Amino acid sequence: MLSREDNETICRVGPGTPMGNLMREYWVPALLSSELPGPDCDPVRVMLLGERLIAFRSSSGDVGLLPHACPHRGASLFYGRNEEGGIRCVYHGWKFAVDGRCLDMPNEPPESDFKDKVRARAYPCAERSGVVWAYLGPRELPPPLPHFEVFDYPDEEAHASAYAVQANWLQVMEGDNDISHFGFLHAGHARAEDAAEGSRLRLTLLDRAPRTKLLDTSGGVMSGTFRLVPDSDETFWNIHNTLLPFFTITGVGISPEAGATAGVTAKKAALLARVPMDDHHTMTFRIDVGLNPATAAGGPANATISVAEYSGLPLHPNTTDWYGRFRWIPNAENDYLIDRGQQRRMESYTGIEGVVIEDVAMTESMGPIIDRTQEHLGVADSYMIRIRRRLLAAARALAESGQVPPGVDDPDAFLVRSGALGLPNDADWLEAADILRGGWGVLPELEPRDWTRPLVGADA
Ligand code: FES
Ligand SMILES: [Fe+2]
Repeated sequence: MLSREDNETICRVGPGTPMGNLMREYWVPALLSSELPGPDCDPVRVMLLGERLIAFRSSSGDVGLLPHACPHRGASLFYGRNEEGGIRCVYHGWKFAVDGRCLDMPNEPPESDFKDKVRARAYPCAERSGVVWAYLGPRELPPPLPHFEVFDYPDEEAHASAYAVQANWLQVMEGDNDISHFGFLHAGHARAEDAAEGSRLRLTLLDRAPRTKLLDTSGGVMSGTFRLVPDSDETFWNIHNTLLPFFTITGVGISPEAGATAGVTAKKAALLARVPMDDHHTMTFRIDVGLNPATAAGGPANATISVAEYSGLPLHPNTTDWYGRFRWIPNAENDYLIDRGQQRRMESYTGIEGVVIEDVAMTESMGPIIDRTQEHLGVADSYMIRIRRRLLAAARALAESGQVPPGVDDPDAFLVRSGALGLPNDADWLEAADILRGGWGVLPELEPRDWTRPLVGADA
């Protein structure tokens, strides 16, 4: 549990809040590149960290991200004309470049130099892996972009998708750090003996109350969840990484939700970001490399797929509303289309279709911000407890002494890898983590698929 004060501190992300300030030290995903499909396309309303912003792609292809209120008299730049290298407010014609410079002020006398004195606050943007990243922080010169493993692959191999959750960012992310829920929420109906011999799923189902070891890393927290393998001298390890402020490196190999799809190739690298739109809404950004259902279905290798196609679950078409992007059709108002018959017959534990929607249902059912003074956390929750501590400590250190948060000036702090593998019982868990990491950061001569032991999940 958390005190009321700590819960407020950790959840609220608006400008000037301790956690909001912490997040503004980092580069954060703002929108998908595909939401701005070409030069001078329609602007997009983006709600990010409690700020109302307008994203646009200029004639040169660069992305601009400005507060929606025009610096002149506050009309929304959403209605602006995106033309010839800038966005022009339609109220009095002021025009702004992607860096916030005022390029034109046609309602002022020609001799006026007022336009050189006015600037829109523009947030620096960079595009990587199909996502527009933005820096909303105080530095004149932004810190370096984090070095996520997904960035090491060409953009055409990265599949970026997004979906919204109607809940505070922390409880969304805590679903990623909640190791034990998988064996219930997603797989409570499955029996270990029905899963393939030696598969990750089988080993997971054999022990639904695993234990976890934890390590603070330079960018966040790493967990090693372990299960003894019956009739063997091996321990099955699941290495998982959380990076501040809201990133999760999901495991390489076969992802649980794709495991059942024949022909899906193993995931080479992955990233999950639970980005606050505001205190009550979260946009999940997901980047997967090497896992491409479009390819499995016979589509081209670089096919762009939405999360709806990816998961087979339905999203509403996007609207231009502040909260109109990437909303699920199964939602709280229709009880996530729960099928009680399916649940009763144990065809699924929940009766709710899709791993993602199961997670969303649980997360949203807690209310927009869970009251963490009322929780009863057990041993199974140790990972999320550690992450909360790390987040609160980083936010306080920034607020009290200006301490640069973990990883901000150290891009390689984000170069970690998660996955599952078997090790002899007497091996140290950090060996497992090293084998996973070694293929990329520590031993760059090793190819990703060339580890000394294959991933247990890879042949599931
Ligand atoms: S309010 Fe935008 S130009 Fe006047
Ligand atoms: Fe889940």
